[in-house]
Amino acid sequence: MTDSFYALVPAAGFGARMGQETPKQYMPLAGRPMIYHALLTLCGNAEITTVFVVLSSEDTLWRTFDWSTFGDKLQPLYCGGQTRAESVLNGLLASELEPEDWVLVHDAARPCLSALQLTRLLDELRNDDVGGLLAVPVADTLKRSDAMQRVEHTESRASLWQAQTPQMFRTGLLVQALQSIPNVTDDASAIEALGLKPKLVSSDTSNFKVTYPQDLQMAELLLQHGNIK
Ligand code: CTP
Ligand code: MG
Repeated sequence: MTDSFYALVPAAGFGARMGQETPKQYMPLAGRPMIYHALLTLCGNAEITTVFVVLSSEDTLWRTFDWSTFGDKLQPLYCGGQTRAESVLNGLLASELEPEDWVLVHDAARPCLSALQLTRLLDELRNDDVGGLLAVPVADTLKRSDAMQRVEHTESRASLWQAQTPQMFRTGLLVQALQSIPNVTDDASAIEALGLKPKLVSSDTSNFKVTYPQDLQMAELLLQHGNIK
C-alpha cells in the first residue's frame, strides 16, 4: 500500500497583528491574495492528493477570487474555529481523511514555502513513526528580560529551533492530540504533549510567517525574485 498525502491550510484568522481591515491571508502580495502563494506550492506537489483550506464560516472573500487554476485539488471547508488549533481540528474532522493518511498542516501566512522545502519534508518523514516539521536553528543570541525590559541573563541557543510549517503527522494521531491538548500554538506541541518526539527537518528563514506589516515587503521581494519557488 502506498502512502497518501494531504495538505490542510488553516486560514480562518483575522491577522490582528497586521492591523488591517482585510484578513491577512487575503492581503495583496506579489499580485495575488497572500494565501495563493502557499496554495500554489502545495497544489504543485504531485504527491499531495487534496489541499483543504479551513475558512471562517463568515468568510465572504474566498469566493471573490478565481481559484480555478487549482481545479478539484483545492477544497474549501467553512469550519474555522476560535483558535488556530481549533481550526485545524475542525478541518481534519470535516476532511474525512483516514487515520493513516499523512496530513501536512501549513499556515496561509507562510507564502514563501518553496517546492524544495516541501519535498525535503516529505522525503525525510515518509518513513517516520511520528512525523515532524520544518524548522530553523536559532541564529541570534537570546536574552531573557526582567519586568523593566532589562537583560536578566543570556540564554543558550544551543539545540533551539524556530518551528515553521508544514507540520506533517498521521491524521488519526493529530486528531487525537488536538482533542486531548487543545491549547497549543502549533500542531507539533500537541503531539509532544502525548509524549512523542516530532522530527525537526532543516529549513531556512525564507519560509517565515508574515505577521506584521513590515513582513509584507520581505515576502514580496522573495516572491518576486522567483528563485525560491
Ligand atoms: N488561523 C485559523 N483560525 C484561527 C486563527 C488563526 O485558521 N482562529 C490561521 C491563520 O489564518 C493563519 C495561521 O492560522 O493562516 C497562523 O496564524 P497567525 O499567523 O497567528 O494568523 P492570525 O491568527 O490571523 O494573526 P494574528 O495572530 O496576528 O491575529
Ligand atoms: Mg494568531
